[in-house]
Amino acid sequence: MSRVLTAVLISGGGSNMDALLRASAEPGYPADIRLVVSNRPDAGGVAKARSRGVEAIVVDHRPFGADRAAFEAALQDVLAARSIGFIALAGFMRILTPGFVSLWRGRMINIHPSLLPRFKGLDTHARALAAGDAEHGCTVHWVTPELDDGAVIAQARVPVMPDDDAHTLAARVLVEEHRLYPKALADAVRIMDRSAP
Ligand code: GAR
Repeated sequence: MSRVLTAVLISGGGSNMDALLRASAEPGYPADIRLVVSNRPDAGGVAKARSRGVEAIVVDHRPFGADRAAFEAALQDVLAARSIGFIALAGFMRILTPGFVSLWRGRMINIHPSLLPRFKGLDTHARALAAGDAEHGCTVHWVTPELDDGAVIAQARVPVMPDDDAHTLAARVLVEEHRLYPKALADAVRIMDRSAP
């Protein structure tokens, strides 16, 4: 099987991106991560990707204002120019339009820091604590137009400890994200490859 050219989209520190880049460097890993795109010029993940020898490009959303479609057209140009065939969202904090999502349907996945369908959206760790949940975790799922709603590919669970705050809980979940995402990306790319014509 040929490796699928993959882009990772980020907005921040890129620790999940880094876990994916490390996996992509392993022999036989089915996703060949060639490109990192950040919508924020100051995202720490940009330098991290470059230090691993991976091309990292900033497509800043701010000059496009409220025109999400124009931002996504610029993003799509960058992806198409590099023949990217799969997208992994890793802490990418922009909501994507249905048009962009349908263009990438079946070829775009996301990691979310909760046990979906619980706690879609933001502040998942604080919400899990406020709800008194005994368990929390993370989910890798297919991206569909509805936010954090696509079919689940994989989940990992962590216990919530009595003395947790949002930071300690986030850190425990993040460790699991770094284990889960590389395996889930490999599974997703293999599923996609089987369903290709
Ligand atoms: C991760 O916890 C990821 O699950 C979350 O942002 C963090 C990014 O960290 N994503 C979302 O909240 C998406 N809605 P990282 O930049 O260190 O990978």
